[in-house]
Amino acid sequence: MSDRSAVIKRELEWHERDAHRRVPLDELIYDPPAFDSVVKPAIAYLGARPGERVLDIGCGEGKETYELAARGSCVVSIDLSYQQLSRAQQRVLENGYHAGVSFVQANAEALPFARGTFRIVYGKAIVHHLDGDLFYEELDRVMADEGRATFAEPMDRHPLVWLFRRFTPRLRTEDEHPMGVVELEQFARRFGTYEMSVHFLLSPLAYVLRLLPRGEGMFRKAHAFMQGVDNFLLKRVSMLRGLAWYGLVMLRKDP
Ligand SMILES: C[S@@+](CC[C@H](N)C(=O)[O-])C[C@H]1O[C@@H](n2cnc3c(N)ncnc32)[C@H](O)[C@@H]1O
Repeated sequence: MSDRSAVIKRELEWHERDAHRRVPLDELIYDPPAFDSVVKPAIAYLGARPGERVLDIGCGEGKETYELAARGSCVVSIDLSYQQLSRAQQRVLENGYHAGVSFVQANAEALPFARGTFRIVYGKAIVHHLDGDLFYEELDRVMADEGRATFAEPMDRHPLVWLFRRFTPRLRTEDEHPMGVVELEQFARRFGTYEMSVHFLLSPLAYVLRLLPRGEGMFRKAHAFMQGVDNFLLKRVSMLRGLAWYGLVMLRKDP
């Protein structure tokens, strides 16, 4: 078995068996409005037309599958894991947007779609699970010229997140690798035109409030305030960019 097949097998097995353990953590971290500053600009940049096909790569539990479907897109959500796809399907059904959504179990490094199938591609927390070169080739193949894609990825140097990851290795797969700013930027640059922004420096501290009973209101206020501070600092002090938790690339594929 090649090295890459072994990685894909481990990723699949972990997500089928253990991903459910992450659900409470993912709710804490990602439930709205915590990631609005990343997800909303990404979806706006994609500019999908009503009824247009959108590829959601590594959809996981479908947090954004239903957001995209709610905007009238025909979403094709792919994931390696059948269990994750089932959770995504359940979420979409519960939110009443099942029409126009398809779920495909597939490896993002070997996509089962013809050349140029998609003008719009969305991904969050997926590229750091993949081999950048293999994924680039596949994405470049299935994307139409002048197509748009966005990827929001965790990065490798936020001190608090770095510490948390060290103490909770069982909450993630052994092969995923949070990305560096430069690595994410280089990935986007290969397609042509791109914009990159970084997010969340002090604001992750606010999650402590979300853990308190009735702490949601305080969390929202503190998180919004700290994000304002983060944006101020990240714009003015370039050396802090590498310490941000998430990077977002929004790219257009040159013909
Ligand atoms: C961290 S989760 C992110 C899920 C979702 N995009 C979100 O933001 O909530 C990563 C997902 O990528 C999937 N995945 C990992 N490797 C993959 C691969 N090679 N092809 C397709 N999906 C993969 C996993 O099964 C998992 O559901």
